[in-house]
Amino acid sequence: MSKLNSPTKIKIAPSLAAANLLQLGDEVKKLEQAKVDAIHFDVMDGHFVPLLTIGVPILEQVRAVTSLHLDVHIMVTNPDDVLDDYLKAGADTLSFHIEAARHAHRLCTRIRQAGKRAGIALNPATHWQNIEFLLPELDQVTLMTVNPGYSRQQHILTMHNKIGEFANFCRAQNYAIDICIDGGVNLGNASTLAQLGATILVAGGAVFNGGNTVESVQALRAAATAG
Ligand code: DX5
Ligand code: ZN
Repeated sequence: MSKLNSPTKIKIAPSLAAANLLQLGDEVKKLEQAKVDAIHFDVMDGHFVPLLTIGVPILEQVRAVTSLHLDVHIMVTNPDDVLDDYLKAGADTLSFHIEAARHAHRLCTRIRQAGKRAGIALNPATHWQNIEFLLPELDQVTLMTVNPGYSRQQHILTMHNKIGEFANFCRAQNYAIDICIDGGVNLGNASTLAQLGATILVAGGAVFNGGNTVESVQALRAAATAG
């Protein structure tokens, strides 16, 4: 599997679902040129969240053309049932929502047994303490800073307390867990998020904004490491 670096350096993971879906191959090439740390692959099922996006067949095709790390975020009501399909299709990190899982501990174990990185995503209303006892089983926690379902929504500022508190807890417990922030990340908040303890920044609208993808990634990386 293509690796993510240590959980101390800030990593940029553009959300492919926000790209031009009719030009996916080209969009993946641009992300390679931009030297992104991972591609964030948003799966929406029309039930857990309102829209439908890309799923297993597209993941297989993206996997076939890139060795970039694939950070798959499944926003689905039935992660217990579909997890193996996404592992087989080429996910490197697989994150499911704690709000939807029937047996979250078992899912983490299944992901790691497949040799992949295990992740859990938390909706804005969900406290990080809900997964406190699962942290030893996790490589990544995704804290949503929008209500999942759409790209280009407004970043929820009140989540910053949660990010800081969770990052402090992980530090105190010596957990080497990537803290991934997903939703409304932009040039204006990237530095703050990094300082709060984020180690992965997902970006849809901030990268696929109709401008130059490579430059947008570079600008976001520079903003995240500034200050
Ligand atoms: C939210 C998704 C995201 C999101 C990112 O439903 O999980 O990954 O689309 O897009 P922006 O950065 O535009 O909020
Ligand atoms: Zn996502």
